[in-house]
Amino acid sequence: MSKTKEWRVPNFTFSTKPPQSVRADVLVLPIFEGLEPGPGVRPVRGVDLVALYEAAGNKGKRGEYLIVPNAGLDGVEASAILLLGVGKRDDAGPDACRRAIGKVARQLSKRARVATTLPQIAGRAFDEAVQATVEGVLLGAYRFDRYKSNSNDDTPKLREVAILGGARADARSARTAINRGQVIAESQMWARDLVNTPALDLPPAELAREAQKMARQVGLKAKIWSEAELKRGGFGGILGVGQGSVRPPRMIELRYENGSGAPIALTGKGIAFDSGGLSIKPADGMEWMKSDMGGAASILGAMRAIALLEPRLNVIAAIPSSENMPSGSAIRPGDVLTHRGGKTSEVLNTDAEGRLVLADALAYLAEQGPRAIIDTATLTGACMVALGDEVWGAMGNDRQLIRDVLAAGEAVGEPGWELPLYEPYRKLIDSEIADIKNIGKRYGGAITAAFFLREFVGDIPWVHLDIAGPAFSDRVGDYWPKGATGVPVRTLVRYVLLQAGTRRR
Ligand code: BES
Ligand code: ZN
Ligand code: MN
Repeated sequence: MSKTKEWRVPNFTFSTKPPQSVRADVLVLPIFEGLEPGPGVRPVRGVDLVALYEAAGNKGKRGEYLIVPNAGLDGVEASAILLLGVGKRDDAGPDACRRAIGKVARQLSKRARVATTLPQIAGRAFDEAVQATVEGVLLGAYRFDRYKSNSNDDTPKLREVAILGGARADARSARTAINRGQVIAESQMWARDLVNTPALDLPPAELAREAQKMARQVGLKAKIWSEAELKRGGFGGILGVGQGSVRPPRMIELRYENGSGAPIALTGKGIAFDSGGLSIKPADGMEWMKSDMGGAASILGAMRAIALLEPRLNVIAAIPSSENMPSGSAIRPGDVLTHRGGKTSEVLNTDAEGRLVLADALAYLAEQGPRAIIDTATLTGACMVALGDEVWGAMGNDRQLIRDVLAAGEAVGEPGWELPLYEPYRKLIDSEIADIKNIGKRYGGAITAAFFLREFVGDIPWVHLDIAGPAFSDRVGDYWPKGATGVPVRTLVRYVLLQAGTRRR
């Protein structure tokens, strides 16, 4: 079975034509909560659209929609109008666009030609809203049906989406925003595919092959570290975690070179499957742990988007991938591992494996002298307990970097929140016999995990994103089905694009 699918992506166009004169199967027009008509609604004559919408029991809440067939709509070329609730007028920004259109994306993909004025609700944030609308259309229609034997039944028919701007809109910047939205959404969908793919079909070597294939397609340099090379390089954490599995570990190294100066360094936790190892997890919910490479997938998705969007800077990624399994060859509680660079860790719980593989990758990246290091990881249940399933945790050693990444996340609708690296907690990972141990006590588990990682970055500005909550969803969201979300691809790409042109502090 092929592991990457090429999505059938519609063609997005931009135009400043009046909405009525656009030929389409459906014209999507926004309406605010409180039944205030959005851009394009009022000019339609022949029928009171708002009254129809209200009569069907709608209030304009985000995603509430009504399809009005064009039977006598004066001067309207489209075959139907879809009135789309977008929520409160005060919240009418890019995220409202992404969510509102995301909620009807499946409806839209039943038609061939769609047009919409939706981004006009965002006023001065028009370009950002165009990007978010494109993302919402694509991400909202995403399904993972590769393992359904009759998945052809509802193949998307959508071929063209016309984004309509007001008469004064800048077509060039709108088209740039369309392209950015398309690249980012496709990259995030690819990350979702990787995470949703069962671990059976995505061992470390296969993840590496997928990364290599992507790198070839978008023009990134790639080097896959084999088990033997990891041994020679002293990557004891990646090897130790992986030694209980018959499927050997890898490290995926990607380079994007398009500028001068120190690179931004990225890494992500790539545990193909986390059974817990000998400290085995309970059976209940263990199937979720195919998503324990969500950090790795987000970095791969971000690298894909970066390569296609071509910001003027350098980025290096080193992604560790092991499978955490219990067996006669697995590491035991009490074992000591030697990481890249020589630091040792005492493994008191084999289920705290993410930090063990990330330690090696962080040490390797720190050697490269980057301007900043960002890691993403489905690292701790504790972070989920603290922040719930939609907000990632941020911990790091550099105020500015933490602020920049949090701001990037907020801007793209992938919110994070900082947890403190409260220095007195550092001693919780002191070990009796090694440099550090891989667990603290139960309380503050997200923080002790981050302290463990901090040991390996030296004095390089670094931020760790614990995405255990938002990487995988047990319920349908506005623009994601159950399963992988691809968070935080959009955050990473936004951060990197903003850094292009920003010099090292
Ligand atoms: N991959 C898990 C964390 C996780 C749990 C992610 C649930 C998503 C959903 C991680 O490897 C893990 O097992 N962490 C342990 C650490 C503990 C043993 C110190 C945890 O959080 O319980
Ligand atoms: Zn894990
Ligand atoms: Mn674990």
